Amino acid sequence: MGEMVSYGVSGGIAEVVIDNPPVNAASHGVRAGLASALARFEGDAEAGALIIRCAGRTFVAGADIKEFGKPMADPQLPDLLKRFDAAIKPIVAAVHGMVLGGGFELALACHYRIADARARFGFPEVRLGLLPGAGGTQRVPRLAGLQIAIDMITGGGQIGAEAAKQAGLVDMVTDGDLADAARGFARDLVAAGKGARSAADLSMPADDPALFDAARKSVARKMRGQTAPLKALEAIRLGYEGGPFDQALDREYALCREMVTGSQSRALRHIFAAEREVAKVPGLSADTTARMVETAGVIGLGVMGRGIVMALAAATVPVIAVALDQAHLDAAMKAIRDTWAGQVAKGSLTQAEMDARLARITGTVEPARLVDADLVIEAVSEDIERKQAVFATLGSVTKPGTILASNTSFLDIDTLADASGRAADVCGMHFFNPAHIMRLLENVRTTRIAPDAVATIMAFGKRIGKLAVLSGVCDGFIVNRMLSKRSREAFFLVEEGASPSVIDKVVLDYGFPMGPLALGDLAGLDIQAAARKSRAAKATPRELRADFVEQMVAAGRLGQKSGSGWYVYDEKRKSSSNPETDALVSAHAKRHGLALREIGADEIRERLLYAMVNEGARLLDEGVAPRPHDIDIAMVNGLGWPAYTGGPMFWADQIGLATVLATIERFRKEQGDAYWTPSPLLARLAGEGRGFYA
Ligand code: CAA
Repeated sequence: MGEMVSYGVSGGIAEVVIDNPPVNAASHGVRAGLASALARFEGDAEAGALIIRCAGRTFVAGADIKEFGKPMADPQLPDLLKRFDAAIKPIVAAVHGMVLGGGFELALACHYRIADARARFGFPEVRLGLLPGAGGTQRVPRLAGLQIAIDMITGGGQIGAEAAKQAGLVDMVTDGDLADAARGFARDLVAAGKGARSAADLSMPADDPALFDAARKSVARKMRGQTAPLKALEAIRLGYEGGPFDQALDREYALCREMVTGSQSRALRHIFAAEREVAKVPGLSADTTARMVETAGVIGLGVMGRGIVMALAAATVPVIAVALDQAHLDAAMKAIRDTWAGQVAKGSLTQAEMDARLARITGTVEPARLVDADLVIEAVSEDIERKQAVFATLGSVTKPGTILASNTSFLDIDTLADASGRAADVCGMHFFNPAHIMRLLENVRTTRIAPDAVATIMAFGKRIGKLAVLSGVCDGFIVNRMLSKRSREAFFLVEEGASPSVIDKVVLDYGFPMGPLALGDLAGLDIQAAARKSRAAKATPRELRADFVEQMVAAGRLGQKSGSGWYVYDEKRKSSSNPETDALVSAHAKRHGLALREIGADEIRERLLYAMVNEGARLLDEGVAPRPHDIDIAMVNGLGWPAYTGGPMFWADQIGLATVLATIERFRKEQGDAYWTPSPLLARLAGEGRGFYA
């Protein structure tokens, strides 16, 4: 038996303990260890029942993701679990922590389940582009019914121990010592003469084709473009159409194996690993410790400031919220209360939790109150002089060592560091709107920041439930800088004759939640026009000429908020094409003597997305993004780049950088050096036959 699994017998009960840190993944050593332990138990006359449990912080949290894509050594998990079905003495799973994927399937193949009250159960496989491959799709419907099976397996969410018990997936929940409770449970089984039992012996619940139809429609909408949830539904149907239990299990596993090698699963596994990679900060020595943040401050309570206050208070951080004046403070507090009251009305937040969050916020108009803060996030309007004045104030009113972070989305934070007089404490913390919902946080490492301040903002991001990536200082950081290249290309495509709805459809079909022009309407064309104005001094004549947003703003068309922008919107904000946009584009072409042409979907997609890939390569070249992982994670979580393509850099690698480069060179000939000069890194890697990752 491998050292990952131990076997012992005491008082007539055998006990297997799995010990494979950090998350007790069902690696080969665990599977082999379990197979020998099972054989030993079956031949052990002294043992009347077997308990399977785990050491450490969790039960088995799934198959070992690192083994995916390599030849899987025997025993395979499904075969091993079939042997549990066939065992004649009872097996009890005693579970705690995260009971996920293959770990949940292991527990389900045991004959009884007893759970720690804090245990969480789920099938995250769809998030990895997979489906449960070791009986999950067959055992859950038999134990808990179709609705729960469909929800858990296609949704990838989790349920707690009590809910699992209610569903029939767990026999007993304990908040006492789990091992003791399991021993008592097993002894009672033996004393009562209760033997083995298997979900394999249960029948499938009555078929409900309407439920499957509804589920197919729902996942096609909620998880658009993803193949795994639909395949998972097919796998559940094997319970009706897949032959006897063992045969259905074999077919379920075959479906899962097929998906492991598919492009979506490879991309989603890359995203899983990249999310963990971005938490590791390059260039920080192992002994760098984060500063303590007990109280945070936010100065500037517009839309972003309020969202940040809500994010902090929801994450149990006491916040000092500083507004410009009493009227702004009152408006901000009202907006915050209204947002949470709306959630209470919908039942997604309790009144008690809302009250607790409000109690964590101290509203004030006195910046001097920030003396109690350990970290202050500035969120005043995007005006460099205003921000410099705020940083000068922050430098004088806060304690030495208090981290001063700007939420700017494009201004030069190094100049704010100068204004503060405390450059080693100054950084960026760029939240995305709405800040209390969006998971991405771009932490910006200024040139003179102290290493422990970097460690602090990364740890703090995690503490408030955000996915923090690190960016260097530049105009737009990672997400907005890459996005600006897509927007530019979208405007050029409109100028050349592509209609906004065709452009948006290409982007939507690729898998983004929204196209670039619809996004402009949502964000506000006035905001986009202001951003263009602030960059006008550096813009090319062609960029200045493609002034559609300025023209629309001048005509009072601000996007969704005014009911008209690229599209027109009805009172329910449903969009349709806008005849005024067509007229504007034709008049623009006439004025500038431009010929309009038909542009195919491939060209639209390549120009919009390769412009971002090329800019991503520049970010790497310049060291703004430390690794391609940071770019992929930022774009997936900040812009909705479909995770199942792996993000721009991974996606480009799959296409092959030589192909990407050749297309960029073609665009360069057609569109000019100013827009399509390949990044030196891209050119070099393509020449060497390499990708961004390997
Ligand atoms: N296999 C291998 N390594 C894993 C792993 C797994 N299933 N789950 C986590 N790890 C590793 C992580 O990569 C990380 O490694 P590093 O420290 O080297 O970066 C380490 O364990 C700790 O993980 P986290 O940082 O994520 O720790 P956490 O406490 O924040 O979260 C967790 C713990 C909830 C278990 C989370 O890691 C998680 O969601 N893991 C994935 C679970 C999963 O998807 N399981 C299903 C696998 S597919 C399957 O089981 C298919 C099948 O039936 C055939």
